[in-house]
Amino acid sequence: MIILIDFGSQTAHLIARRIRELGVGCEIVVPSEAAETIKQKKPEGIIFSGGPASVYEDDSPTIEKEIFELGIPILGICYGQQLMCQLLGGEVKPGFKKEYGPAVLESVDQRIGESGLFHGIPSGITVWMSHGDEVVKIPAGFQTFAVTKTIPHAVIENKDKKIYGIQFHPEVVHTEFGTEILENFIKICGLTPKRSEINEEFVKNIIEDVKDSVGGEKAICALSGGVDSSVAALLVFKAIGRNLTSLYIDSGLMREGETDALRQVFSKHYDMNIKVIDAKEEFLKNLKEVTDPEQKRKIIGKIFIEVFEKAAKENGAKFLVQGTIYPDVIESAGTKHAKVIKSHHNVGGLPENMNLVLIEPLRNFYKDEVRKIGKVLGLPEEIINRQPFPGPGLAVRIIGDVTEKKLEILRKADKIIQEEIGKTEWSEKLWQVFAVFTGVKTTGVRGDERAYGETIAIRAIEAQDAMSANFAKLPYELLEKISTRIVNEVKEVNRVVYDITNKPPATMEWE
Ligand code: XMP
Repeated sequence: MIILIDFGSQTAHLIARRIRELGVGCEIVVPSEAAETIKQKKPEGIIFSGGPASVYEDDSPTIEKEIFELGIPILGICYGQQLMCQLLGGEVKPGFKKEYGPAVLESVDQRIGESGLFHGIPSGITVWMSHGDEVVKIPAGFQTFAVTKTIPHAVIENKDKKIYGIQFHPEVVHTEFGTEILENFIKICGLTPKRSEINEEFVKNIIEDVKDSVGGEKAICALSGGVDSSVAALLVFKAIGRNLTSLYIDSGLMREGETDALRQVFSKHYDMNIKVIDAKEEFLKNLKEVTDPEQKRKIIGKIFIEVFEKAAKENGAKFLVQGTIYPDVIESAGTKHAKVIKSHHNVGGLPENMNLVLIEPLRNFYKDEVRKIGKVLGLPEEIINRQPFPGPGLAVRIIGDVTEKKLEILRKADKIIQEEIGKTEWSEKLWQVFAVFTGVKTTGVRGDERAYGETIAIRAIEAQDAMSANFAKLPYELLEKISTRIVNEVKEVNRVVYDITNKPPATMEWE
């Protein structure tokens, strides 16, 4: 097995997942417990994750140097590479500028293939960077195999000691040959990689786990109709049957027609206990004049939980099931060294005195894995392939305060986008596509009149998981069609713009 030391990376769990997908065990440990765990468990390999700190800052996470003397192969990624260089006598400095996004690896003297890590991998591949610091001097015994336009040591290796360092992230899908690089490292560790999959056995185990945790108690489930909560609900339904009541809270922050669609699908396919609660007024009242995104999330999370608690009391439930998936956890800083990006309501906003025990059967999975689990469970395609929709709903797609009027404008614009995209093959390719109410008013002309109206932004994203993404290169003709329809059919809007930012540095949602 491989031990992964987590220095607070947003993608530590993704590294572990990639290793496990290759049929090798991977255990994540915090830096302070690394040396002890390694001595006990005697792993075949060690990986240092990335992390948001700088190695030269006080209190930045570190490890005991004896780890380098154990003869176990080590791979340092990003912060992990920087830390290993600093501890072994190299030098790390703040980069000329922070770098987020793609970079091309250039082989030094055409030697990249000689590095064990790059066995069978071509030169000139595109890799994904996300860092502020960089290694400027490598320790004695190391060699540099690749650089990028901005970084002098992108791939380094100490052949004798089998210690490797890379500045980029092989675990994200945007890095070409990322899995093969990790596969090579596994081979260097003397292990044999083989790819594993999510199948019936795998899903049966999750259902058994839920059964064991809930026993004969009642549970309520936060069913939103999205992939995550639907799969979570179905898993729990398979485990405890009618002891599960699925609550759908209509917050008034949903897209056009969503509540009806959900009723249809679930009553058509399943014999599930579903209860729809109308809480629109409660949400809007509490969101009045609130403009800060994090505050919006916290308020929405709080009301969700309050409404749930009330319904749960009436229902006699002890457990609350939520469709939290791994990126929600990590981006809400569910692990020790990671920084908070957004407090997703279903994680960060939970009041501490909550009287319900939380069941989150999908907490360890990424979106594509959740979809695979849904497939194994026989969930209809229309749900499995549904675009993700944030828990706080349209509230985080309205910049500034949330009002009924703005919601109405946004819903209309969003419906047009969904309709037009739905007519094309892009609907299958996109992770998400939606409208944003930007809150910016601009001047326009309608007929011969001056108009001063709203600006709607279109956000269309291609991604494999929620950690990184590219804006979709939608054809101009399609964008023009959408734009024309929005300004013609939604009279309050007189300008439509297209968001051309990748994640990172931007997030998918605007707030
Ligand atoms: P970001 O904007 O963080 O989005 O790049 C990543 C994915 O998560 C969704 N998202 C949320 N989901 N509660 C949720 O349940 C939230 O507060 C939240 N914020 C963003 C987003 O739609 C995207 O798919």
